[in-house]
Amino acid sequence: MKLVVNDSEYDVDVEPDMPLLWVLRDELSITGPKYGCGIAQCGACTVMVNGFAVRSCQLAVGDLNGAVTTIEGMGSPESMHVVQQAWVDHQVAQCGYCQSGQIVQAAALLAINPNPSDEQIDGVMSGNLCRCGTYPRIRAAIKTAAKRLRES
Ligand code: FES
Ligand code: FES
Repeated sequence: MKLVVNDSEYDVDVEPDMPLLWVLRDELSITGPKYGCGIAQCGACTVMVNGFAVRSCQLAVGDLNGAVTTIEGMGSPESMHVVQQAWVDHQVAQCGYCQSGQIVQAAALLAINPNPSDEQIDGVMSGNLCRCGTYPRIRAAIKTAAKRLRES
């Protein structure tokens, strides 16, 4: 089957019930999305489909109905997405394992809500777990990214 990931088209020979996360990591070597729980409880595998955050561990590739964006497709070290830049500026990451999912989730939030309140941030981000407890810096980085987006 064909799928579009980070603006590139791929042809993969997999069973339609294979989770998207497996296709990305094992078939396409796109390893930004992480395997955490495998049951939609941690958010480490978060990617965007048509701009909306989804848990790729729980989406069968055969049910995919849009273009996929992973952390790799958001920006590059030379040209970072505003959320990635805010993450760097606030030095959010600790071990880093959860962070690609956090950043993708945050970008999806700001795409539909450019000025989220603390409660809205916490509500949306509560499904993305961080064992290192970076939550205060995540919230601060989202607020910085939101401000920069509004002013741009
Ligand atoms: S690995 Fe998908 S939500 Fe945890
Ligand atoms: S930075 Fe370590 S799990 Fe989030």
